[in-house]
Amino acid sequence: MHNVTLIKGDGIGPSIMEAAVAVIDASGAKINWHLAEAGLTAFEQTGTPLPEATLASIAETRVAFKGPLTTMVGEGFRSINVELRKTYDLYANVRPAKSWNGVKTRFENVDIVIVRENTEGLYVGLEHYLSPKKDIAESLAVITRAGSERIVEYAFKYARDNQRKKVTVCHKANILKFSQGLFLNTAREVAAKYPDIEFDEKIIDAACMHMVMKPEQFDVVVTTNMFGDILSDITAGLVGGLGLIPGANIGADAALFEAVHGSAPDIAGKNIANPVAVMMAGVMMLNHLGEHEAAIRMQNAIEKVVNEGIYVTPDLNPASTTGTKEMGLAIIAAME
Ligand code: NAI
Ligand code: MG
Repeated sequence: MHNVTLIKGDGIGPSIMEAAVAVIDASGAKINWHLAEAGLTAFEQTGTPLPEATLASIAETRVAFKGPLTTMVGEGFRSINVELRKTYDLYANVRPAKSWNGVKTRFENVDIVIVRENTEGLYVGLEHYLSPKKDIAESLAVITRAGSERIVEYAFKYARDNQRKKVTVCHKANILKFSQGLFLNTAREVAAKYPDIEFDEKIIDAACMHMVMKPEQFDVVVTTNMFGDILSDITAGLVGGLGLIPGANIGADAALFEAVHGSAPDIAGKNIANPVAVMMAGVMMLNHLGEHEAAIRMQNAIEKVVNEGIYVTPDLNPASTTGTKEMGLAIIAAME
C-alpha cells in the first residue's frame, strides 16, 4: 500500500483527476489516497491557496498526484506550483512527449523528453520595481553550479537508465554570459563523464526552430527553468496538444506528478477535458512507486483507447461526443 497525497485542483482538475484516480485504482496498484486542497478552490474555502494541512500531507507521503491549479493574478500572489516545487526541492521537471499512432500531427516520430530545471533561473521570484512610479521592473535569474550540475546529471542518468542516446543542452550563453554561461559550462563538465551518451548544444531560439522543423534530432533535452517551460509546450504541440503530456517533478526525497497543462477555465465544467495527460502522469507515478506492472497495464490501456480514436475527448476527435468520465471508463474497460 502506497500513501499518496491527492490534490484535485481547479477548473478541469476535479474531473480529470477523478477519471485518473479510477484508472489507477483499476490498474492493480494499491494506493491510499490522502485528499488535500490547493489553489483557487483552497483559497476560496480556507483563505489560503496552500493550507498547512496540504504541506503536512506531502511531507508525510512524499508523493503527490496533483491537478492543475489556477494561478491568481496580481502582486502578492505567488504561484502555488512554484511554491510546491521550492518547498520540496523538486528540482527535476521531466516532461516526455511521444507521438501516438492514432493522433494525427505533422510529425510521426517525435520522442523527446524535456528535463527542465525546476527551482532556479528566472522563476525564483526575485522581482521588484526600480522606480517609485513602477515604470521600471527587474526580474532576476539565479543559476548555481550545484543546481546546474544536479539537473544535467539527472538528464544523463535518465538517458542511461532509459536507453536514450543523446542529451541536448539548450541555453542562451551567447548573451547571458554569466548565468547561462555557468549552466552551459557545467553541462559540458557533466557531459564529459558520460562518454556513452551523445552530447549536443543548441542556443534556445535556434533550438525552437529545429524542434518544429526536424524534431527527430532531439532525444533528451536539458535546460533552465523558463526555457524548459516554453519548450515543453512546443513538444506538446508536436504530438497532439497539452491534453496528452504528463510531467513529473522530482526531488531527492519527494515527487509530485501532474499534467503540463493548466486548469483550462475555458472548458471547465463541460466534461470535455482530456484526462490522458494526468493519467500518463499517473503512469510515471506508478513507475516511481515501483509498481511497474500496474504502470504498463495502465499505459497499454490508455494507448489502446487513444490510438483507436473512438472513445476519446473532442480535442482528439472533433466528431466524438465522449466525455472525460466516459473516456476514463473506456480505458478501464481496455485494461487486461
Ligand atoms: P491551460 O493549459 O489551462 O490551457 C491552454 C489551452 O489548452 C486552453 O485552450 C485549454 O482549453 C486547452 N487544454 C488544456 N488542458 C486541456 C485538456 N486536458 N484537454 C483539452 N484541452 C486542454 O493554460 P492557460 O489557459 O494559460 O492557464 C489556465 C490557468 O492554469 C492559469 O491560471 C495558469 O496559471 C494555470 N496553470 C497551471 C499549471 C499547473 O497547475 N501545473 C500549468 C499551467 C498553467
Ligand atoms: Mg507551462
